[in-house]
Amino acid sequence: MGSPNVSKILVIGATGYIGRHLIQASIKLGHPTFALARPITSSHNIEKINLIQSFKNNGVNVLFGELNDHDWLMNMIKKLDIVFLVLGHEPSIQLEEQTRIISAIKEAGNIKRYFPSEFGFDVHRLQILEPAKRVLAIKVKIREAIRKEGIPFTFVSSNFCCSYFLSRLGQIEATGIPTDTVFVLGDGNTKECPQPFPFFYAIAHAGFIKGETTKFDIDPTVGVEASQLYPDVKYTTVENFMDQFL
Ligand SMILES: NC(=O)c1ccc[n+]([C@@H]2O[C@H](COP(=O)([O-])OP(=O)(O)OC[C@H]3O[C@@H](n4cnc5c(N)ncnc54)[C@H](OP(=O)(O)O)[C@@H]3O)[C@@H](O)[C@H]2O)c1
Repeated sequence: MGSPNVSKILVIGATGYIGRHLIQASIKLGHPTFALARPITSSHNIEKINLIQSFKNNGVNVLFGELNDHDWLMNMIKKLDIVFLVLGHEPSIQLEEQTRIISAIKEAGNIKRYFPSEFGFDVHRLQILEPAKRVLAIKVKIREAIRKEGIPFTFVSSNFCCSYFLSRLGQIEATGIPTDTVFVLGDGNTKECPQPFPFFYAIAHAGFIKGETTKFDIDPTVGVEASQLYPDVKYTTVENFMDQFL
């Protein structure tokens, strides 16, 4: 019999931005870790090839497959305890693939906890501009579908996380830390926005200008603040994080 504190964890979307952090955390905590990756179709995809090799080197079980293969998906899910799904923002992928997975988890009946592709704003209460409004509305639909199916779930509302915006000093289009100019988004009067309004500008507007990341209280009947749930974790303040750039 396995240890009660160890679970077989699958990350679907393991090669993505959030996925690789989840894989790293799962291994560090000693869980048997499984990464689902779509087959590599080009030998030029060096970053993905190297990432998958690093997963393997760290003891991750890498599974190659497509989510639309129902029998393969069911067979895989039956061997696991916990499923994380971290797909990107493409609305049709979110809806189709998440619906497939929710149905498979319901049918399999053995999954102890499902974490859908959230890891952002608390979409139920969020006020946000288009085009992000339309994209994030899908996450609300997925929440409803999960509740309807009655599978065990956790919705992780992590606002900005994994140093996503911070490591770029909040600069929407930067790919690394800016070295000469930084725009401070704050009073809503910065007139730099391209048209049509791009997705990540809407995200930054909601977070930095409207303060959507700080505006809500957690309803204790359904939610809990992560630092209360995991008091042993050493958390980093924004100030400490920024000190590394000085
Ligand atoms: N709070 C924050 O700061 C923050 C930051 C980033 C993301 N997020 C959230 O985290 C979640 C994941 O976003 P992300 O940025 O990590 O996504 P991402 O980097 O775009 O990665 C998406 C992953 O999903 C896989 N994938 C895409 N379509 C698939 C399909 N049809 N079947 C199987 N796998 C598929 C990709 O695999 P391939 O390698 O095969 O393409 C990749 O591994 C989203 O809900 C997003 O809103 C939050």
